[in-house]
Amino acid sequence: MMKKRILSGVQPSGTPTLGNYLGAFRSWVALQDDPQYESVYCVVDMHAITIRRDREELRRQTRELYALLLAIGLDPERNVLFIQSQVPQHAELTWVLNCYTMFGELSRMTQFKEKSARHPDNINAGLFDYPVLMAADILLYQAHLVPVGGDQKQHVELTRDIAVRFNGVHPDVFTLPEPYIPPVGARIMSLTDPTRKMDKSDPNPASHVLLTEAPDAIMKKFKKAVTDSDAQVRYDTTQKPGVSNLMAIYALATGLSLEETEKQFEGQGYGVFKPAVGEAVVALLRPVRERVEALLRDPGFLEAEMARGRERACAIAEKTMADVRHAVGFLPKG
Ligand code: TYM
Repeated sequence: MMKKRILSGVQPSGTPTLGNYLGAFRSWVALQDDPQYESVYCVVDMHAITIRRDREELRRQTRELYALLLAIGLDPERNVLFIQSQVPQHAELTWVLNCYTMFGELSRMTQFKEKSARHPDNINAGLFDYPVLMAADILLYQAHLVPVGGDQKQHVELTRDIAVRFNGVHPDVFTLPEPYIPPVGARIMSLTDPTRKMDKSDPNPASHVLLTEAPDAIMKKFKKAVTDSDAQVRYDTTQKPGVSNLMAIYALATGLSLEETEKQFEGQGYGVFKPAVGEAVVALLRPVRERVEALLRDPGFLEAEMARGRERACAIAEKTMADVRHAVGFLPKG
Protein backbone atom coordinates (compact mmCIF):
# COMPACT_ATOMS: atom_id res chain seq x y z
CA MET A 1 0.00 0.00 0.00
CA MET A 2 1.31 3.48 -0.91
CA LYS A 3 1.58 5.63 2.17
CA LYS A 4 0.16 9.13 2.15
CA ARG A 5 2.66 11.86 2.79
CA ILE A 6 2.69 14.56 5.46
CA LEU A 7 4.79 17.70 5.25
CA SER A 8 5.23 20.60 7.61
CA GLY A 9 7.86 23.14 8.61
CA VAL A 10 8.94 25.58 11.27
CA GLN A 11 11.05 28.72 11.10
CA PRO A 12 14.31 28.95 13.04
CA SER A 13 13.48 32.36 14.46
CA GLY A 14 14.22 31.88 18.14
CA THR A 15 13.24 29.02 20.42
CA PRO A 16 9.71 27.83 19.59
CA THR A 17 6.90 28.55 22.01
CA LEU A 18 4.27 26.47 23.68
CA GLY A 19 1.99 27.74 20.85
CA ASN A 20 4.17 26.03 18.22
CA TYR A 21 4.20 22.88 20.30
CA LEU A 22 0.48 22.62 20.98
CA GLY A 23 -0.63 23.92 17.58
CA ALA A 24 1.74 21.93 15.39
CA PHE A 25 4.51 19.76 16.91
CA ARG A 26 2.06 17.79 19.02
CA SER A 27 0.25 16.65 15.86
CA TRP A 28 3.58 15.79 14.21
CA VAL A 29 4.57 13.51 17.07
CA ALA A 30 1.11 11.89 17.21
CA LEU A 31 0.95 11.31 13.44
CA GLN A 32 4.20 9.34 13.34
CA ASP A 33 2.33 6.44 14.95
CA ASP A 34 -0.25 6.33 12.15
CA PRO A 35 0.86 3.69 9.63
CA GLN A 36 -1.11 5.39 6.81
CA TYR A 37 1.43 8.19 6.66
CA GLU A 38 5.06 8.91 5.95
CA SER A 39 6.18 12.29 7.29
CA VAL A 40 8.65 14.92 6.19
CA TYR A 41 9.48 17.93 8.39
CA CYS A 42 11.81 20.80 7.67
CA VAL A 43 13.48 23.66 9.45
CA VAL A 44 12.68 26.49 7.04
CA ASP A 45 15.77 28.69 7.23
CA MET A 46 15.05 30.22 3.80
CA HIS A 47 11.77 31.60 5.12
CA ALA A 48 13.64 33.03 8.11
CA ILE A 49 15.76 35.45 6.04
CA THR A 50 12.74 37.46 4.86
CA ILE A 51 13.59 39.42 8.01
CA ARG A 52 17.20 40.62 8.58
CA ARG A 53 19.08 38.05 10.63
CA ASP A 54 22.54 37.78 12.12
CA ARG A 55 24.19 34.91 10.24
CA GLU A 56 25.79 33.20 13.25
CA GLU A 57 22.56 33.44 15.19
CA LEU A 58 20.62 31.90 12.30
CA ARG A 59 23.08 28.99 12.09
CA ARG A 60 22.84 28.43 15.85
CA GLN A 61 19.04 28.63 15.87
CA THR A 62 18.78 26.26 12.91
CA ARG A 63 20.88 23.65 14.73
CA GLU A 64 18.99 24.15 17.98
CA LEU A 65 15.64 23.82 16.28
CA TYR A 66 16.74 20.62 14.57
CA ALA A 67 17.79 19.26 17.98
CA LEU A 68 14.46 20.35 19.39
CA LEU A 69 12.52 18.40 16.76
CA LEU A 70 14.37 15.27 17.87
CA ALA A 71 13.87 16.20 21.53
CA ILE A 72 10.08 16.45 21.27
CA GLY A 73 10.07 12.85 20.13
CA LEU A 74 10.21 12.87 16.32
CA ASP A 75 12.00 9.69 15.33
CA PRO A 76 14.55 10.37 12.54
CA GLU A 77 14.06 6.83 11.22
CA ARG A 78 10.30 7.08 10.75
CA ASN A 79 10.32 10.77 9.71
CA VAL A 80 12.47 12.64 7.22
CA LEU A 81 13.90 15.63 9.13
CA PHE A 82 15.93 18.14 7.16
CA ILE A 83 17.04 21.74 6.66
CA GLN A 84 15.23 23.54 3.82
CA SER A 85 18.23 25.43 2.35
CA GLN A 86 20.15 22.15 1.98
CA VAL A 87 17.66 20.94 -0.64
CA PRO A 88 18.01 23.35 -3.61
CA GLN A 89 14.84 22.08 -5.31
CA HIS A 90 12.81 24.28 -2.90
CA ALA A 91 14.21 27.43 -4.51
CA GLU A 92 13.93 25.93 -7.99
CA LEU A 93 10.26 24.99 -7.63
CA THR A 94 9.49 28.38 -6.06
CA TRP A 95 10.49 30.11 -9.31
CA VAL A 96 8.25 27.90 -11.40
CA LEU A 97 5.31 28.31 -9.00
CA ASN A 98 5.81 32.10 -9.00
CA CYS A 99 4.68 31.98 -12.61
CA TYR A 100 1.45 30.25 -11.51
CA THR A 101 0.66 32.59 -8.60
CA MET A 102 -1.20 35.86 -8.94
CA PHE A 103 -0.04 39.17 -7.51
CA GLY A 104 -3.53 39.72 -6.10
CA GLU A 105 -3.49 36.40 -4.25
CA LEU A 106 -0.23 37.23 -2.48
CA SER A 107 -1.42 40.76 -1.67
CA ARG A 108 -4.36 39.28 0.26
CA MET A 109 -2.26 37.12 2.61
CA THR A 110 -2.88 38.12 6.24
CA GLN A 111 0.66 37.26 7.34
CA PHE A 112 2.15 39.46 4.60
CA LYS A 113 -0.01 42.38 5.68
CA GLU A 114 0.93 41.89 9.34
CA LYS A 115 4.65 41.43 8.71
CA SER A 116 4.88 44.37 6.34
CA ALA A 117 3.18 46.54 8.98
CA ARG A 118 5.72 45.32 11.56
CA HIS A 119 8.77 45.88 9.31
CA PRO A 120 7.80 48.90 7.15
CA ASP A 121 11.45 49.62 6.28
CA ASN A 122 12.04 46.17 4.75
CA ILE A 123 9.03 45.04 2.73
CA ASN A 124 11.17 42.90 0.45
CA ALA A 125 10.03 40.67 -2.42
CA GLY A 126 10.90 37.59 -0.33
CA LEU A 127 8.36 38.59 2.30
CA PHE A 128 5.73 38.96 -0.42
CA ASP A 129 6.74 35.66 -2.04
CA TYR A 130 6.95 33.76 1.27
CA PRO A 131 3.73 31.74 0.63
CA VAL A 132 5.04 30.53 -2.74
CA LEU A 133 8.17 29.11 -1.10
CA MET A 134 5.86 27.45 1.39
CA ALA A 135 3.78 26.04 -1.47
CA ALA A 136 7.00 24.67 -3.00
CA ASP A 137 7.87 23.01 0.34
CA ILE A 138 4.54 21.23 0.34
CA LEU A 139 4.15 20.36 -3.33
CA LEU A 140 7.72 19.07 -3.80
CA TYR A 141 6.90 16.21 -1.43
CA GLN A 142 3.45 15.52 -2.93
CA ALA A 143 2.00 16.00 0.57
CA HIS A 144 -1.59 14.99 1.26
CA LEU A 145 -1.69 16.49 4.74
CA VAL A 146 -0.11 19.60 6.25
CA PRO A 147 -0.35 19.72 10.05
CA VAL A 148 -0.20 23.38 11.12
CA GLY A 149 -1.70 25.85 13.58
CA GLY A 150 -4.68 27.96 12.47
CA ASP A 151 -2.50 30.90 11.38
CA GLN A 152 -1.07 28.87 8.46
CA LYS A 153 -4.41 27.71 7.08
CA GLN A 154 -4.61 30.51 4.52
CA HIS A 155 -1.16 29.57 3.17
CA VAL A 156 -2.13 25.91 2.77
CA GLU A 157 -5.31 26.96 0.96
CA LEU A 158 -3.27 29.13 -1.40
CA THR A 159 -0.93 26.16 -2.00
CA ARG A 160 -3.93 24.14 -3.04
CA ASP A 161 -5.10 26.89 -5.42
CA ILE A 162 -1.63 27.05 -6.99
CA ALA A 163 -1.55 23.26 -7.40
CA VAL A 164 -5.01 23.23 -8.99
CA ARG A 165 -3.94 25.97 -11.42
CA PHE A 166 -0.71 24.16 -12.33
CA ASN A 167 -2.43 20.80 -12.72
CA GLY A 168 -5.06 22.50 -14.90
CA VAL A 169 -2.32 23.22 -17.43
CA HIS A 170 -0.11 20.16 -16.74
CA PRO A 171 -2.35 17.37 -15.44
CA ASP A 172 -1.46 15.19 -12.47
CA VAL A 173 1.85 16.76 -11.49
CA PHE A 174 0.95 17.72 -7.91
CA THR A 175 -1.00 16.05 -5.10
CA LEU A 176 -3.58 18.43 -3.61
CA PRO A 177 -2.79 19.04 0.07
CA GLU A 178 -5.23 19.50 2.95
CA PRO A 179 -4.50 21.43 6.13
CA TYR A 180 -4.66 19.41 9.35
CA ILE A 181 -5.56 21.73 12.20
CA PRO A 182 -6.08 20.41 15.73
CA PRO A 183 -9.59 20.91 17.18
CA VAL A 184 -8.13 22.32 20.42
CA GLY A 185 -4.88 24.32 20.44
CA ALA A 186 -4.99 25.64 16.87
CA ARG A 187 -4.46 29.12 18.24
CA ILE A 188 -2.71 29.35 21.60
CA MET A 189 -3.01 32.92 22.83
CA SER A 190 -0.59 35.31 24.53
CA LEU A 191 -0.52 35.01 28.34
CA THR A 192 -0.56 38.79 28.72
CA ASP A 193 -3.11 39.63 26.01
CA PRO A 194 -5.40 36.68 25.26
CA THR A 195 -6.87 38.42 22.21
CA ARG A 196 -3.53 37.96 20.38
CA LYS A 197 -1.81 34.73 19.42
CA MET A 198 1.20 33.56 21.42
CA ASP A 199 4.20 34.64 19.37
CA LYS A 200 7.92 34.45 20.09
CA SER A 201 8.45 37.81 18.41
CA ASP A 202 6.27 39.53 21.03
CA PRO A 203 8.72 41.85 22.85
CA ASN A 204 7.09 41.10 26.22
CA PRO A 205 8.66 37.82 27.44
CA ALA A 206 5.79 37.28 29.91
CA SER A 207 3.45 36.78 26.92
CA HIS A 208 4.96 33.48 25.79
CA VAL A 209 6.53 30.30 27.15
CA LEU A 210 9.57 28.96 25.30
CA LEU A 211 9.96 25.22 25.00
CA THR A 212 13.31 25.20 26.78
CA GLU A 213 12.35 27.63 29.53
CA ALA A 214 13.28 26.93 33.17
CA PRO A 215 10.46 25.62 35.43
CA ASP A 216 10.43 28.60 37.83
CA ALA A 217 10.13 31.06 34.91
CA ILE A 218 7.24 29.02 33.49
CA MET A 219 5.46 28.97 36.86
CA LYS A 220 5.86 32.74 37.23
CA LYS A 221 4.35 33.39 33.79
CA PHE A 222 1.29 31.23 34.45
CA LYS A 223 0.69 32.72 37.90
CA LYS A 224 0.68 36.18 36.27
CA ALA A 225 -1.35 35.17 33.20
CA VAL A 226 -4.19 37.59 32.37
CA THR A 227 -7.65 36.15 33.16
CA ASP A 228 -10.83 37.97 34.22
CA SER A 229 -12.65 38.89 37.41
CA ASP A 230 -15.42 36.29 37.67
CA ALA A 231 -13.22 33.54 39.13
CA GLN A 232 -14.87 30.67 37.27
CA VAL A 233 -12.98 28.08 35.26
CA ARG A 234 -15.31 27.87 32.27
CA TYR A 235 -14.61 27.55 28.53
CA ASP A 236 -15.94 30.55 26.63
CA THR A 237 -13.48 32.02 24.16
CA THR A 238 -15.44 35.26 23.61
CA GLN A 239 -16.39 36.14 27.19
CA LYS A 240 -13.39 34.52 28.90
CA PRO A 241 -10.48 34.38 26.40
CA GLY A 242 -7.71 34.23 29.04
CA VAL A 243 -9.27 31.42 31.08
CA SER A 244 -10.25 29.50 27.93
CA ASN A 245 -6.68 29.70 26.65
CA LEU A 246 -5.32 28.37 29.95
CA MET A 247 -7.94 25.61 29.90
CA ALA A 248 -6.88 24.56 26.39
CA ILE A 249 -3.24 24.51 27.49
CA TYR A 250 -4.08 22.48 30.59
CA ALA A 251 -6.24 20.01 28.67
CA LEU A 252 -3.59 19.42 26.01
CA ALA A 253 -0.75 19.15 28.53
CA THR A 254 -2.59 16.62 30.70
CA GLY A 255 -4.59 14.73 28.06
CA LEU A 256 -7.92 15.69 29.67
CA SER A 257 -10.88 17.07 27.72
CA LEU A 258 -12.11 20.64 28.20
CA GLU A 259 -15.17 19.31 30.07
CA GLU A 260 -13.00 17.26 32.43
CA THR A 261 -10.82 20.31 33.02
CA GLU A 262 -13.88 22.43 33.83
CA LYS A 263 -15.09 19.78 36.28
CA GLN A 264 -11.73 19.38 37.95
CA PHE A 265 -11.60 23.09 38.85
CA GLU A 266 -15.28 23.59 39.65
CA GLY A 267 -15.73 25.87 42.66
CA GLN A 268 -12.01 26.64 42.80
CA GLY A 269 -10.57 30.06 42.05
CA TYR A 270 -7.76 31.08 39.74
CA GLY A 271 -5.35 30.90 42.70
CA VAL A 272 -5.54 27.11 42.36
CA PHE A 273 -6.10 26.91 38.62
CA LYS A 274 -3.23 29.06 37.31
CA PRO A 275 -0.40 27.28 39.20
CA ALA A 276 -1.92 23.93 38.18
CA VAL A 277 -1.64 24.94 34.51
CA GLY A 278 1.97 26.00 35.14
CA GLU A 279 2.80 22.66 36.74
CA ALA A 280 1.23 20.71 33.88
CA VAL A 281 3.33 22.68 31.37
CA VAL A 282 6.51 22.22 33.43
CA ALA A 283 5.90 18.46 33.48
CA LEU A 284 5.24 18.44 29.72
CA LEU A 285 8.38 20.40 28.86
CA ARG A 286 10.92 19.05 31.37
CA PRO A 287 11.95 16.02 29.28
CA VAL A 288 12.14 18.18 26.13
CA ARG A 289 14.56 20.58 27.79
CA GLU A 290 16.75 17.80 29.10
CA ARG A 291 16.91 16.04 25.72
CA VAL A 292 17.75 19.23 23.82
CA GLU A 293 20.66 19.87 26.16
CA ALA A 294 21.97 16.34 25.66
CA LEU A 295 21.61 16.52 21.86
CA LEU A 296 23.41 19.86 21.62
CA ARG A 297 26.36 18.30 23.41
CA ASP A 298 26.71 15.90 20.47
CA PRO A 299 27.10 18.05 17.30
CA GLY A 300 28.49 15.09 15.32
CA PHE A 301 25.24 13.18 15.77
CA LEU A 302 23.16 16.18 14.69
CA GLU A 303 25.32 16.73 11.57
CA ALA A 304 24.97 13.08 10.60
CA GLU A 305 21.18 13.18 11.04
CA MET A 306 20.94 16.39 8.99
CA ALA A 307 22.95 14.80 6.18
CA ARG A 308 20.77 11.72 6.20
CA GLY A 309 17.60 13.82 6.22
CA ARG A 310 18.90 15.96 3.35
CA GLU A 311 19.63 12.91 1.25
CA ARG A 312 16.21 11.37 1.80
CA ALA A 313 14.46 14.70 1.17
CA CYS A 314 16.48 15.35 -2.01
CA ALA A 315 15.51 11.98 -3.45
CA ILE A 316 11.78 12.77 -3.13
CA ALA A 317 12.15 16.42 -4.20
CA GLU A 318 14.21 15.61 -7.30
CA LYS A 319 11.59 13.20 -8.56
CA THR A 320 8.88 15.88 -8.43
CA MET A 321 11.22 18.51 -9.86
CA ALA A 322 12.06 16.29 -12.84
CA ASP A 323 8.32 16.02 -13.61
CA VAL A 324 7.90 19.79 -13.24
CA ARG A 325 10.84 20.59 -15.56
CA HIS A 326 9.44 18.25 -18.13
CA ALA A 327 5.90 19.63 -17.76
CA VAL A 328 6.87 23.27 -18.28
CA GLY A 329 9.24 22.57 -21.18
CA PHE A 330 12.75 22.81 -19.76
CA LEU A 331 15.39 20.68 -21.50
CA PRO A 332 16.54 17.64 -19.51
CA LYS A 333 19.73 18.09 -17.50
CA GLY A 334 22.65 16.78 -19.65
P1 TYM B 1 6.01 29.08 12.27
O1 TYM B 1 7.47 28.79 12.29
O2 TYM B 1 5.58 30.49 12.57
O3 TYM B 1 5.24 28.12 13.25
C1 TYM B 1 5.39 26.71 13.21
C2 TYM B 1 4.05 26.05 13.48
O4 TYM B 1 3.52 26.47 14.76
C3 TYM B 1 2.17 26.93 14.60
N1 TYM B 1 1.93 28.01 15.58
C4 TYM B 1 0.91 28.03 16.45
N2 TYM B 1 -0.10 27.16 16.67
C5 TYM B 1 -1.00 27.46 17.65
N3 TYM B 1 -0.91 28.59 18.41
C6 TYM B 1 0.07 29.50 18.23
N4 TYM B 1 0.15 30.59 18.99
C7 TYM B 1 1.04 29.23 17.21
N5 TYM B 1 2.15 29.89 16.75
C8 TYM B 1 2.67 29.14 15.77
C9 TYM B 1 2.12 27.45 13.17
O5 TYM B 1 0.80 27.47 12.69
C10 TYM B 1 2.99 26.44 12.44
O6 TYM B 1 2.26 25.30 12.09
N6 TYM B 1 5.14 29.47 7.35
C11 TYM B 1 5.30 28.54 8.45
C12 TYM B 1 6.42 27.55 8.27
C13 TYM B 1 6.38 26.77 6.99
C14 TYM B 1 5.51 25.68 6.70
C15 TYM B 1 5.89 25.22 5.40
C16 TYM B 1 4.48 25.06 7.38
C17 TYM B 1 7.20 26.94 5.92
N7 TYM B 1 6.92 26.00 4.98
C18 TYM B 1 5.25 24.17 4.79
C19 TYM B 1 3.82 23.99 6.76
C20 TYM B 1 4.20 23.56 5.48
C21 TYM B 1 5.59 29.32 9.72
O7 TYM B 1 6.06 30.43 9.67
O8 TYM B 1 5.39 28.62 10.86
